Amino acid sequence: MCGIVGYIGARNATPIILGGLKKLEYRGYDSAGVAVIHGNQIEVRREAGKLSQLVDLIGKSPIDGAPGIGHTRWATHGAPSAKNAHPHLGNSGKMVVVHNGIVENFLELKAELDGEGITFNSDTDTETIVHLAECQRAGGTSFEEAARRTFKRIHGANVVVLISTDEPDKIIAARIGNAGGVVIGLGEGENFIASDIPAILEHTRRVIFLESRQMAVVTKDSVELTTLDGQKITPEIHSIAYDAVSAEKGEYRHFMQKEIHEQVRALTDTVAGRVDFQEGRIRLPELKLTSELAKRIQRIYITACGTAAYAGMVGKYLIEKIARIPVEVVIASEFRYSDPIVDENTVVMAISQSGETADTLAAMEEGRKKGAIIWSIVNAIGSQAMRVSDGTISMQTGPEIGVASTKAFTAPLVDQYMLAILLADLRGTLDEKTRKELVADLRLIPDVAGRTLDTESQVEKIAYELKDISGCLYLGRGINMPIAYEGALKLKEISYVHAEGYPAGEMKHGPIALIDEEMPVICLALQDPWHEKMISQIQQAKARGGTVIAVATEGDQLVADMADHVLWIPKIPWMLSPIISVFPLQMLAYHIAAIRGLDVDQPRNLAKSVTVE
Ligand code: G6P
Repeated sequence: MCGIVGYIGARNATPIILGGLKKLEYRGYDSAGVAVIHGNQIEVRREAGKLSQLVDLIGKSPIDGAPGIGHTRWATHGAPSAKNAHPHLGNSGKMVVVHNGIVENFLELKAELDGEGITFNSDTDTETIVHLAECQRAGGTSFEEAARRTFKRIHGANVVVLISTDEPDKIIAARIGNAGGVVIGLGEGENFIASDIPAILEHTRRVIFLESRQMAVVTKDSVELTTLDGQKITPEIHSIAYDAVSAEKGEYRHFMQKEIHEQVRALTDTVAGRVDFQEGRIRLPELKLTSELAKRIQRIYITACGTAAYAGMVGKYLIEKIARIPVEVVIASEFRYSDPIVDENTVVMAISQSGETADTLAAMEEGRKKGAIIWSIVNAIGSQAMRVSDGTISMQTGPEIGVASTKAFTAPLVDQYMLAILLADLRGTLDEKTRKELVADLRLIPDVAGRTLDTESQVEKIAYELKDISGCLYLGRGINMPIAYEGALKLKEISYVHAEGYPAGEMKHGPIALIDEEMPVICLALQDPWHEKMISQIQQAKARGGTVIAVATEGDQLVADMADHVLWIPKIPWMLSPIISVFPLQMLAYHIAAIRGLDVDQPRNLAKSVTVE
């Protein structure tokens, strides 16, 4: 999704902005641009395509100056082209804007501006912002007041950053609703603005986060925070202990491959410090869960998008099985429109890698409005989802750069397993022996995870066989059914192959019609309570001439005899099996995409952090 970087200080803003945008590349974009104030002029460079194309353009036609703002765009209004790329200049040439989000009342504002004879130079909704702000300035109103009036007229979830030659000593930024983060980095005689921490981390670790409906006036020496209504706010300065080095590819070809392999460490860190193996107990202090609260909970809604929602589906099995609390998983974009039955004894738990997904934040807001207890499982430190929750479980995965999520899928599975045990323990519904066994099983994860990743070369061989497929069916049952969904999503996202995940028992009610020699069927046939059922599913697929690739438990001769290929995983208790059974499917999707020569880390049309509804 759109990335924003701003700089004010004595240095030339251009390289700082380009360096910051580079760090935001993982979010996904289709065009980029930079604007700086040079003398009394605003200079703008914009280009469609990758950031490297903008860098080339600036190489040929350099700009320098400060302050400056830059942007990577993920098109919502108007095609991805240089004309529609941000920053957008006002008609006077004295003010320029970058924006993330959707101006929902864009048509109404545009009609008003058209009526005043304003010329539009792009097809974007963004342009209305700068024209509106220029109109507000007309009567001599200050830059700050004009910006404030403009922000108040914009509907929807938006982040806006403006600079003006009339007052070149400031950058004005606003967060209107939940359109992704705004972080202000504090330097010495210089300050930074960005959508996300990595963009400014090499310059400073002292940051201020902007909350919804707040604006900041940033000079080189100061940051003034107010609400959109003008009330002063004392900024809270956070210190970020964030490992920038882990955001490098290292020995791997792609971030996705690196992140698949990082899962052993990520899962080990997820468990570390949260488990007392001696007592057989779980500790999740950030969740602030008391036994009084645990006993009060009558229902849990898990809400999330994409991969995170599939993680939630596994969580439903775990929490219902271990803690016996009813759980519903609702896709976040549907949650607030489904009039969910929520009261003060309901938990709304969001799962989000970025903690900035607009739909997920909106679902949390809906839960809050209806009086629910708000929890989140989040990876990005300091993100909005984390900040608006009553309790959090922070994923211990480190930054995830590949757009297709991997380690941020498996970590929340372990988190939810631990949560289920903790809930059951605090509610007094788990006998000691079972609790200790469930906790002890967590020890198995790192070893089993490592051994599964060691099968990568076998998975790669199967990927070569499947490299030209045009469709693929993924089947699973029970706790491994969401893994069929996730396996299919991984393949679609990065290989552009149509893939469908299905509950295996439903195959006979439709998808079986798809099966022929051309259609590979991937069956999650693990030694879990659904094993026999999956065996019969494999038989049905084979009977229709389908090529079956099974994910199976080591030593399962029955599956080995029936399937065309087997992706093996070591024996592991079935409740933990989804954490591991997804590994071969991640590796398979990765290798099919890599063999096809595709842009694995930044697949077309996708964004890492989706900050629009
Ligand atoms: C985007 C990403 C997906 C991700 C989803 C939810 O669609 O491409 O990989 O699963 O957003 O993101 P979140 O940050 O909330 O987990």
